[in-house]
Amino acid sequence: MVTNSAAWIDAPYAELVVRDSPYPVPGGGQVVIRVEAVAINPLDAIVQSNGKLMYGWLDYPVVLGEDVAGEVVEAGPGASRFALGDRVVGYAIGLEKGRNAVAEGGFQHYVILDEALAAPIPDEVQFSEAVVLPLAVSTAAAALFESSQLALDYSTLGASPSRSDFVIVWGGATSVGMNAIQLARAAGYRVITTASPRNHARMRELGAEAVFDYGASDVVASVVEKVAGSRVAGIVAIAVGSAEPSVAIAAATGARRVAQTSPSVSFYDQPRSGGLSRARAKLLARLIWTNVALQTRCAIRGIRARFVWGSAIAGGPVGAAIWTDYLPAAIARGQHILGPRPRVVGGSLEAVQEALNLMRTGVSAEKLVIELR
Ligand SMILES: NC(=O)c1ccc[n+]([C@@H]2O[C@H](COP(=O)([O-])OP(=O)(O)OC[C@H]3O[C@@H](n4cnc5c(N)ncnc54)[C@H](OP(=O)(O)O)[C@@H]3O)[C@@H](O)[C@H]2O)c1
Repeated sequence: MVTNSAAWIDAPYAELVVRDSPYPVPGGGQVVIRVEAVAINPLDAIVQSNGKLMYGWLDYPVVLGEDVAGEVVEAGPGASRFALGDRVVGYAIGLEKGRNAVAEGGFQHYVILDEALAAPIPDEVQFSEAVVLPLAVSTAAAALFESSQLALDYSTLGASPSRSDFVIVWGGATSVGMNAIQLARAAGYRVITTASPRNHARMRELGAEAVFDYGASDVVASVVEKVAGSRVAGIVAIAVGSAEPSVAIAAATGARRVAQTSPSVSFYDQPRSGGLSRARAKLLARLIWTNVALQTRCAIRGIRARFVWGSAIAGGPVGAAIWTDYLPAAIARGQHILGPRPRVVGGSLEAVQEALNLMRTGVSAEKLVIELR
């Protein structure tokens, strides 16, 4: 009998604990993956830091983790996209409402994926290289292409048609940003981005036409000047505090839509324990105030700034366009660069908690990855 184990979070705010977990049973259109590598996302740390303030539907204990890569070992009814033994990367979606927060949580040796949220990995690509993609590429796609967000045209995704419109990606060196730059380019849009100077060359390699330092006092003016005379199809605002300058750019360029992936305050700035501490009360007050101020500015200027959910692409046409139609060929041809680069920080599930703590201290243009052997 195959045994399984997971890095569990037993209660809101708790440290992860590794122990046995049930071997998962795939449903229709699902596959079981033997996980070879997982990556860490801010979402995992945010859920752990926030208790029930976010993802209040989670019924603890649960298994965190969205990014997995491994081999297909079982297929559920009607799942025919992959053969047993196929190497795949995929988005484990267990944290989302209505999903199975144990069987579909990524931090375990055997996990269930929707086959529609997975893509094959070529033999020459390591699991640790591919595993950086899932939540980041899904969120980038949701921001750019979902009709409630920037609603960009993805009908010719991958053919890189030539368009004159710009897309601005604020925070290009984030995991979401590196994928947003590439997806926008693959859909034919011209891209301007922001990043720390040490990452500017990388941003250009990914397809950005110009890069500006988000820390510079004149960054908003520089971006506005660069796109002067052209249409801006939309702005993707990534990283804490990115919505404010993005809305300022939208106001100055006539862009009507901002897709906001991050809040204006950091959810890490609070104790990892329950109750309404001073720090948490301050954080919530700042969160409400910044959001009201931002939405007021948007209303005055006729701009629509909406919060993005990466999971929005699941089960819809954008999800199929990315995971089935675009990524398999784009990864195989090296057309979609696997970014950010992985930093392998452990070789077992026991390393996941440490990796979450490390991520809270900040990473630059890299993804923390754990290989499971
Ligand atoms: N809503 C959703 O569904 C969803 C899904 C995934 C992620 N997110 C959110 O999106 C954000 C990015 O996540 P991620 O995993 O892509 O992050 P990440 O890879 O951990 O981001 C690290 C990068 O953030 C950049 N950065 C930090 N502050 C910045 C700022 N003020 N402006 C521009 N860039 C800044 C840094 O760039 P430099 O190194 O160049 O300084 C660094 O490389 C997080 O806030 C995360 O919570 C939301």
